[in-house]
Amino acid sequence: MRRLWSWRVRITIARMTEENIMLNHARVKLYFLLVLVVPFVLSGCDSGKKAEQKVSYSQDIIPILQRHCLECHVINGSGHQASGLDMSTYQGLMKGTKFGPVVKAGDSLSSTLVLLVEGKADPSIKMPHGDREALSTAEIKTLRQWIDQGAANN
Ligand code: HEC
Repeated sequence: MRRLWSWRVRITIARMTEENIMLNHARVKLYFLLVLVVPFVLSGCDSGKKAEQKVSYSQDIIPILQRHCLECHVINGSGHQASGLDMSTYQGLMKGTKFGPVVKAGDSLSSTLVLLVEGKADPSIKMPHGDREALSTAEIKTLRQWIDQGAANN
């Protein structure tokens, strides 16, 4: 009789701990969900904000032009002599070539400058000219964003 009782107790205890373990598993899952999912969702919101951030002419655009274009597109550089495009100042960039503007504020898709750096125009006038390294996808994206945001002198 005593033996039977002690078995019962053991079984009950075993069941209780089993339930506890399962309960703990559920808790652990919930914590994982909170720890993993919450920051993920928050970071998602964050990068959404970043995508809308204003591109700055002085901080984002000038360095790209310096790296890829100013070697030739400054007063009396080969690019300026051939096309009239001087990109060393904001005014020069917005004035464009002797044939007219290459940046159409608010409309990167029809801006000659973007077409040229994306290589969508004739390969002979792909910019940068000659065997120079093409712009990275990120740099082109920055240029396009800046133009689409109004090409401000910001
Ligand atoms: C190695 C010199 C060189 C570099 C670097 C260069 N260009 Fe040019 N660019 C030229 C020359 C030369 C022309 C004249 C067109 C021709 O004869 O191919 C020109 C013409 C242009 C034109 C006018 C095209 C037209 O006829 O409508 C634009 C716009 C232009 N460049 C943009 C850029 C941009 C943007 C960069 C930087 C990403 C750049 N260029 C880098 C030499 C250069």
